Amino acid sequence: MRRVYFDNNATTPVLPEVFEAMRPYFSEHFGNASSIHHHGQETRAAVERARESVAALLGCKPAEIVFTSGGTEADNLAIFGLIKPGDHVITSTIEHHAVLNSGKHLQSVGWEVTYISVDGRGVVDPADVRRALRPNTKLITIMMANNETGVLQPVDEIGNIAAEADVYFHTDAVQAAGKVPIDAKRIGCDLLSISGHKMHAPQGVGALFVRKGTNLTPLFWGGSHERSRRAGTENVPAIVGLGRAAEIAKTSLDRGELSHTAEIRDRLEQEILKQVEATGVNGANAPRVPNTSNIYFDGIEGEALQIALDLKGLAVSTGAACSSGAIEPSHVLTAMGLPPERARSSIRFSLGKQNTSEEVEFALTLIPQVVARLRDLSPVYNKVAVNH
Ligand SMILES: Cc1ncc(COP(=O)(O)O)c(C=O)c1O
Repeated sequence: MRRVYFDNNATTPVLPEVFEAMRPYFSEHFGNASSIHHHGQETRAAVERARESVAALLGCKPAEIVFTSGGTEADNLAIFGLIKPGDHVITSTIEHHAVLNSGKHLQSVGWEVTYISVDGRGVVDPADVRRALRPNTKLITIMMANNETGVLQPVDEIGNIAAEADVYFHTDAVQAAGKVPIDAKRIGCDLLSISGHKMHAPQGVGALFVRKGTNLTPLFWGGSHERSRRAGTENVPAIVGLGRAAEIAKTSLDRGELSHTAEIRDRLEQEILKQVEATGVNGANAPRVPNTSNIYFDGIEGEALQIALDLKGLAVSTGAACSSGAIEPSHVLTAMGLPPERARSSIRFSLGKQNTSEEVEFALTLIPQVVARLRDLSPVYNKVAVNH
């Protein structure tokens, strides 16, 4: 059966060039990068080359990059590495769980966290961030691009506010890296997280940009790896893969190749809106990364649509989470003010480098017909249709 993958915000396939770059580091170049003999020197050099490539993608110095096991660890290192008891943290209601649940944990042990809400487009207002500042605010952590909607946040302005207030600023750029240019200096952030598997490198590797002079307490205690910021033997093949993926991402961005992704994403979106009634784009009027489209299909359950499309070979996702046996609507979409039914009817399409316009046409042959069938079965859809 033909399978088309439009769930690149969940994870991306490792590019063949990335895999080839990694391959020797599983076999002939196997040394521990901390060893001083030839084998260690060889892998140390590879790790340092990867560090340069990641730094070039993020507009920072190689020494400011700390390799981690992924986006979650990078977010946790940024937050827990920085704050001390009594500090106040500002974040937003639409963060990934790596940040949101870190905030909840902080609250559960008695620390103060303010969650800034978003407007109907899914955008944080920097003025709200400014208003939330307190004398004991230590950190602002607000994402660069949302994983469910692709909506970009005004991180430059938030960076300015943080700098004026002399507060640290961390941004989770996991869903932005490789999709939009990132310049850590321009943003003025002190910390910035990325994850390999969202940008065609393998799962289980990521990086945190740590501005020079930022004192972080490590999460793990052990050797003095990563300049004592992240103990543990480096995952050399994965780090090499992340470095190669960063080079490829930078070249694509410099050459404007992402405009193709934007074009096919826009075609998918426009055709769905044209061909399927009672649909709309969540975050439509906000700036977005070029690969993501989050669409509601009134009158049906997103989960049912996801499963029906999967049975026909199209992989997409919903932001819904299953908690205590019930399907909870996405926290991002409800934070944007969508009623729970509309949030539950939403599907995320997220494209990657490997997707083609022909695949979009394939998806367009399936979506209208599958939606129509589910709506025929839906006890609520007719009422919705009357309201439209
Ligand atoms: C915005 C965002 N932050 C953090 C993460 C976590 O990254 P990882 O899967 O590498 O731990 C994700 C993954 O979905 C994400 O989308």
